[in-house]
Amino acid sequence: MSRMNRQWVLRQRPKGEIQDGDLELVSSPIPDIRDGEVLIRTVYLSLDPTNRTWMNDSEGYLPPVGLGDVMRGLTLGVVEASKSTRWAVGDIVSTAAGGWADYGVVNEAAVSRVHRAPGLPLTANMSVMGMTGMTAYFGVTDVLRPQPGQTMVISAAAGAVGSIAGQVARQKGARVIGIAGGPKKCAWLTDELGFDAAIDYKNEDVGAALDRLAPDGVDLNFENVGGDIMIAVWNRLNIGARMAVCGLVSAYNATQMPPSPNFSRLITHRLHVQGFLVLDYQSRAREMVAEMGPWLASGQVKWKVHVDDGLEGALTSLNRLFTGDHDGKLLVRVSEEPA
Ligand SMILES: NC(=O)c1ccc[n+]([C@@H]2O[C@H](COP(=O)([O-])OP(=O)(O)OC[C@H]3O[C@@H](n4cnc5c(N)ncnc54)[C@H](OP(=O)(O)O)[C@@H]3O)[C@@H](O)[C@H]2O)c1
Repeated sequence: MSRMNRQWVLRQRPKGEIQDGDLELVSSPIPDIRDGEVLIRTVYLSLDPTNRTWMNDSEGYLPPVGLGDVMRGLTLGVVEASKSTRWAVGDIVSTAAGGWADYGVVNEAAVSRVHRAPGLPLTANMSVMGMTGMTAYFGVTDVLRPQPGQTMVISAAAGAVGSIAGQVARQKGARVIGIAGGPKKCAWLTDELGFDAAIDYKNEDVGAALDRLAPDGVDLNFENVGGDIMIAVWNRLNIGARMAVCGLVSAYNATQMPPSPNFSRLITHRLHVQGFLVLDYQSRAREMVAEMGPWLASGQVKWKVHVDDGLEGALTSLNRLFTGDHDGKLLVRVSEEPA
């Protein structure tokens, strides 16, 4: 009897927060692979705020997931069968083509090799040494380019990207203020990661806290959240300040457009505002590995992953990204790691 594969399929486009019935977990036999294809057993599924945006029928940097299609997601897995000359059984690989599923039948060209970093767990490849680490590293070093002594503010600072971005900026000599939800996350930023200050946006007025912590204004903003938090930072950007727009997570479940900042400050304060996508930096991954590797080995940069077990809980897990109920890069363990 053929083995079965569970897959999360998009049934209808969520309006606001994801509701029961928007996606369905279905089971079907694993199809035979054809020439040039591999069968990948998913070990880890990366859950990312952008997953929610892919469910919308709106203009994005990737096409929307089609109704009836398997939910797209970045996975790390093991090749279990191969009709490819490039990939062998047992190879550890990553792909975005397998999706939220136990197994993916994937074209050989849509697969990348995972190089285990010496001394680091495999989850590092799905976090600090993977896509989120790249986002943080290049957002800071290529987009913001901090100079020693500059004041940088980061929103969603205790998250996967924000926590690394803040530490990279500290390594480059910036003074870093993180904005995060709750005293525990804020204490982690200042006491363990070495952030200069943290603002608990759930319990403090962000604007007033910025006035106290950055009385000379803000030189650099690594923006992950948008909305009122972004506007509070925007209104305190100095002349010539740089802003890296990485994400706008507060808007991903929104049914109405969030408030916009006052664009006239772009002119009056000669602001440099740049959106960026980690996809554009894939060819420069080695630069990140070369600089981040020693920081991780020496403990100068710290990181956390939050692993939930079971593909069946993936939707519940995804919602953690919007409530903040996770501690580090959010992953789902779909099956056991290879020995
Ligand atoms: N441009 C790119 O290529 C790229 C690549 C990866 C990620 N990103 C973006 O980077 C950002 C962070 O992603 P991540 O993967 O590192 O996720 P994450 O920060 O680990 O998780 C999301 C965090 O956002 C905060 N948050 C959620 N809703 C919020 C709201 N309404 N107001 C304030 N804070 C809210 C929560 O933190 P608290 O507990 O502190 O509230 C939550 O933990 C996202 O905007 C994402 O889209 C961009």
